[in-house]
Amino acid sequence: MRIDIITVLPDLLRSPFEGSIMKRAIQKGLVEVHFHNLRDYSSNKHKNVDDYQFGGGAGMVMMCEPIDLCISKLKEERKYDEVIYMTPDGETLKQKMANSMSMLQNIIILCGHYKGVDQRVRDMHITKEISIGDYVLSGGEIGAIVLCDALIRLIPGVLSDETSALTDSFQDNLLSHPIYTRPAEYKGLKVPDILLSGNFPEIEKWREQKAYEHTLNRRPDLLEE
Ligand code: ADE
Repeated sequence: MRIDIITVLPDLLRSPFEGSIMKRAIQKGLVEVHFHNLRDYSSNKHKNVDDYQFGGGAGMVMMCEPIDLCISKLKEERKYDEVIYMTPDGETLKQKMANSMSMLQNIIILCGHYKGVDQRVRDMHITKEISIGDYVLSGGEIGAIVLCDALIRLIPGVLSDETSALTDSFQDNLLSHPIYTRPAEYKGLKVPDILLSGNFPEIEKWREQKAYEHTLNRRPDLLEE
């Protein structure tokens, strides 16, 4: 997968890709991430990329031209499956969306800032608008990092134990069951006997039951889905 991220804050974005799973995926050649500084596409001598809102109102708006120039240049170089805009009024990111997007070849992610981007850029180029939740962040960068992490860990070969992505919370609309590691007793707190029994069919049943109870307590809406 190739991910092109368009941002006014490329430095803010770099470090999450320089550690952990995302770094490993890049090193293994399973994903390429490229950052594009929107200011490089500004025709203005101050490298501004925003301007006042027509009709009045607080907050600056990201201008069409730098974004259009950047996306058009990328589109000339290769075909993109999706051109994504990170915005609080987009479709909320869910595991199912991450699953299907992890199979794409080339995507562009545009990070919004200030009040947002000129509507004409959305009309011209954007094929998918994604929110990471019902709250407003100061820019799309953190959302872009969240989206990339959710996608990259699903690419086959990225996780060493491939089944672990399949047993994550949300994969089957259930939250995870409780998990334990050694020691079997810590400060008087014991690991449930069943997990030490070696009876794998019963362990599986216990896990399913616990996952169900946990989901019912915490996220009953998932069970309704
Ligand atoms: N930009 C600002 N808020 C956002 C959100 N909740 N999700 C995605 N991008 C955003």
